[in-house]
Formats: sequence, C-alpha cells, structure tokens
Amino acid sequence: MVNCLIVGHGAREHVIGESLVKGGANLYAYMSFKNAGLEDLSKDVKIHSEMDFREIIKFAKDKNIDFAIIGPEAPLCVGIVDALEKGGIPCASPKIEAAQLEGSKIFMRQLLTKFNIQSNVMSKRFSSMEGVKNYIDEIGEENIVVKPDGLTGGKGVMVFGDHLFSKKDIIDYCQELVDKRSPFLLEEKLDGEEFTLQTFVDGKNVIPSPLVQDHKRAYENDEGPNTGGMGSYSMEDHLMPFITQEDVDIALEDMRKTVKVLKVETGAEYKGLLYGQFMKTAKGLKIIEYNARGGDPEVMNILPLLKTNFVDVCWAMINGNLNTLNIEFEKKATVCKYLAPEGYPVSPKRDEPVKINKKKLENIGAKYYYASVYREGENIYTTTSRAMGILGIADNLEEAEKISEKGVGCVEGKLFHRKDVGTLKLLQKRIDHMNSILLK
Ligand code: AMP
Ligand code: GLY
Repeated sequence: MVNCLIVGHGAREHVIGESLVKGGANLYAYMSFKNAGLEDLSKDVKIHSEMDFREIIKFAKDKNIDFAIIGPEAPLCVGIVDALEKGGIPCASPKIEAAQLEGSKIFMRQLLTKFNIQSNVMSKRFSSMEGVKNYIDEIGEENIVVKPDGLTGGKGVMVFGDHLFSKKDIIDYCQELVDKRSPFLLEEKLDGEEFTLQTFVDGKNVIPSPLVQDHKRAYENDEGPNTGGMGSYSMEDHLMPFITQEDVDIALEDMRKTVKVLKVETGAEYKGLLYGQFMKTAKGLKIIEYNARGGDPEVMNILPLLKTNFVDVCWAMINGNLNTLNIEFEKKATVCKYLAPEGYPVSPKRDEPVKINKKKLENIGAKYYYASVYREGENIYTTTSRAMGILGIADNLEEAEKISEKGVGCVEGKLFHRKDVGTLKLLQKRIDHMNSILLK
C-alpha cells in the first residue's frame, strides 16, 4: 500500500485526504492544528507549523511516505516541495519557481505579457509612486484594480467601486503599499462573470476538471465584505450556463501555454493542481489569477466526482504521464455551502461549540468537511475562519442544493451560511448579468 502525506489543516486538505484514502492510500496528516476529519482518516497525524520543513521531512521519513501533497499556498510559495524532494520525498505539488504563478502577481502578469497569452489583462508594475498618477489617468480611475505583489490571503486586492471610490483612495492605497515596501500592480478592472477551472498538471499535460463558481461575498445576494469564499457550485454538464465549451477551450489552451512558457522562462516544470480563475467579459475571456493548488472551497466540488483513482492521478502528476490515464468525473452537479462563525469575516465568534448530527447528515446523503474548527475531547469548536463545508451531490443543481441546505440544518452552533449559494434564482441572476454585459 502507498503511504501518502497531506500537509494542511482545512476543508481543502480534508477532501484531498478523503480522496487519497478512497484511492487505497494509508494517509498521514501534518497540520498546524488538528482537523478532526483528517485525524479520523489518518493512520497518524502531527500537529506543528506547516512552515517547519525540517519537521515535515522528519515526520515523512519516519512514516515511510511515498509521496506528499501540499494544500495551502504559504508553504508552496516558499519552497516546501523543493525541501521535501531534496529530502527524498516526491510531491504532487509545484516547486517554488512554479508556485510563483500564485506567489507573485507581478511575475505572473509579466510572464503572460512576454509570451502574449491571449486572456492576459493590461497591467503595470510599480514599486514607488513614480508614474502612478499618470497610469491612473491613462486608463481612468474607475477602471483600476490595485494588487500587492505577494500572498495576501485574498485581502490585498482592492477594486474601484468595491473598495476604492476615488482617485485619492487609489493613490492613498498605493502610498500605503510603497510605505510597506510592497511592489504592486495597477491592473485594468474587468466586468463579467467569474469561474474557476482547476486542472491536474504533470509538467506537460494539463487535464481539466468541471468548472466551478465560488461566492466571495459574506452575505446573500452578493452583499457584505469579501471572504475566503462562502460556497461554490458545479453543474452536471461540467460547464456553467453562461460559459460555453468554446470558452473552456480558450481557458484551457491558455493554461497549457502558461505551463509551457513557465518552463521556457524559468526551467521549472509545473506539477500538481493548477487553479485558473477566469472572467468572461465583453472583451472575451480574461485570466484574473492563478493559484498553485486546489481552490478552497472549489476543490470540494471536483474531487468527490473524480472516477479515476486519485492516488494514480498524483503518481501521474509526479511521473509526468497523465496522458496514460483516462481522467473522468461523474456527470453530477455539486453545491458546497460553508458554515462560518457568526460575525465572520469582521469579528468572528471563536471558541463556540459546533454540534454535528453525523447520522442525519449521512441519511440525507450530504458530505461534510471540517475547515477551521478544532476538537477537544468529543467536542468541536469554532476558530476565526470558516467552520465546515457541507456538500450536496446530485443529478442536477436543484437537488444538490437541497441536499446541501438540509445538510447545513444538521449542524448547530453560532454559525451562519449563504442560503442562496447554488439556488436557481442566483444562477439566473448570473445568467442575466452575463447577458447584459454581452449585449452592451
Ligand atoms: P485575486 O486575489 O487576484 O483573486 O483578486 C480577488 C478578487 O478581486 C477576484 O476574485 C476578483 O473578484 C477581483 N479582481 C481581481 N482582479 C480583477 C480585475 N482585473 N478586474 C475586476 N475584478 C478583479
Ligand atoms: N476560492 C479561492 C481560493 O481558493 O483562493
């Protein structure tokens, strides 16, 4: 049997761990705090910093790990895979240079610009205030997005109209970044509908999974502050009603080109899950960002549908032979709703008990993934981030949404969720928005 190590502590890692176990692996989990789901699935766990590579290598060697997969971006972007591989542990995740597609937005845009990738977005790099005002005037203040270069946990990107409301706001934010010595991009603001395309990559081959749409705003009807994502859905035909197969082909083609030119430019082969976030706009398909990992929550929408053995997929990503596998997904719809502590993301109520009726969840047929909750004895408690992902899978979106919503009803605590994620009403709003943009 193969011994697999998962690094990370959230719902994303829980579903990855579940898929490895389903594929026949002995699972070992290394995490900064105890995910109850991973603990239940694993032969053994270690609770320690996910940035302490020496400890991770020690744990992996001790457990005779055959390969590792890394969930979160922070260790990926500072070279966890390089360290583990030097220690003799192969990884189904990207090395540091490849992970810069997520770790440096400036690197990503410059690479796409240099090689004329068609879904690229107009942008310019700054590390001082010199030229900032001119650039704002050139593209118009209402068309500006400010993006700090490094990882910001989804909190650094500021969009005109959402977070910035005047030229002064833009300049003040740029000045704040200059004062922090953080280089940044000024990028053209786009309008459209976003979707996520997650792929398996082995250095050359880029294999797609069903499209997913995430919901960033905290409250129903896309109101309230931005979050890590309050839920996500996918459709039984693996597309979105407002995204055609042609759109997906363009997105996939650009992801393939990116992997290719990354190697040309840096010598680095991209291996692992590669997440592309795209926006369909009146000007065509545009790439918003790459993530060097599975999406959270979006990976919960795809891995449970994977018909191919995930352990085999990981080996193929490591060995560069994904082309020898027939990667298939069930033709089903999924809806994932995140339960978050009351007050999240501004002032989340932490250390509150969460009661889960597992029997009822199983009867309903809903799957559940532990996110940022911890277990003490038999009890589960909230932290300051999203608590649990509840997933419904069915032949169509309506049924999947019902299962997910009923599943949410099996969890008690000072929690809230977005009832509208995956509903036909919200889907129609997306379709109408897309149509209005394309008609402009
Ligand atoms: P990122 O951290 O790059 O994913 O950006 C966070 C969010 O900002 C994205 O999910 C988008 O909703 C929004 N965003 C990023 N770039 C742009 C852009 N060029 N135009 C409009 N919205 C954007
Ligand atoms: N859902 C967005 C992310 O994983 O970063």
